[in-house]
Amino acid sequence: MTNELDPDFAFTLAHLSDPHLTSLVGVRPIDLANKRVLGYLSWQRRRRRIHCKAVLDALVGDIRAAAPDHLAITGDLTHVGLPAECDRALDWLRELGRSDRVSVVPGNHDRYVADRYDRTVGLWRAYFRGDSGGTDFPFFRRRGRVALIGIDTAVPTAPLLASGRVGDAQRERVAALLTQAGTEGLFRVVLLHHSPLSSGHVRRKRLSDAAEVTRMLLNSGAELVIHGHGHEERIDRMTGAGGPMLVVAVPSASHSVIGRAGWNQYRITGAPGRWRLDIEMRRSTVNGFATKGRETLTWEASINRAAGPRSC
Ligand SMILES: [Fe+2]
Repeated sequence: MTNELDPDFAFTLAHLSDPHLTSLVGVRPIDLANKRVLGYLSWQRRRRRIHCKAVLDALVGDIRAAAPDHLAITGDLTHVGLPAECDRALDWLRELGRSDRVSVVPGNHDRYVADRYDRTVGLWRAYFRGDSGGTDFPFFRRRGRVALIGIDTAVPTAPLLASGRVGDAQRERVAALLTQAGTEGLFRVVLLHHSPLSSGHVRRKRLSDAAEVTRMLLNSGAELVIHGHGHEERIDRMTGAGGPMLVVAVPSASHSVIGRAGWNQYRITGAPGRWRLDIEMRRSTVNGFATKGRETLTWEASINRAAGPRSC
């Protein structure tokens, strides 16, 4: 990683989401009491054919070849958040890389129902441990000139709902972290599972406090907000107190349909007031993964499009 005083500063961040890497084969009926029964039936009927481990393995190979400085994973590692699934996901995280080079926020599937924290999402705490040593959300991880701020949006919901919530307390802490990071001249990246926006997504999948979250991000300032959840790629451009803010959704990392699995690479260069962000969108092909599009954003002028989709 480049030293923050280096004029040639460059930081590459890989982003994947919604790998749904676990299998529910052999799950005992006693483990499926409550909402997990519906999740199991959904997996049995449909999801086990949508999410393919071989695709995920190929995607991870593609990320390894790119050798990014850091990897961000924005949730839904599991299907119904069973302890055995979270344990398997921990093994997978350990295979991916050191916990100081991989950051994780949980998704709604990882907290499908209320369960013991230390046996489920808490197993991944090394991957969301902040620089201060704490494991509460939001986490704050500084890497060179980049601030990584992770938000937990996953809350157990009623059947058929996949909504999330940030909450007043977490929103206040995120606002303070963004303000402080802005004062220090850092490029601020916010990680969360759900979209922070109140439009563009069906209501049952939104944050219940999306309007407040969007307002907080725009008022406090963030350069890049990355999320998953919808399994669809999407880019929203907004302008807040700190200038342009890009909200980027990445598709599922394991979708079996060619072209629908993918990850993004963000290359951050420059310095406060003159940042440059280059996005490379890698998507599945018949032969592995290839670049589908690129976007470039600079902070000293208006947005410059290079190539690739504006919004999908
Ligand atoms: Fe999700």
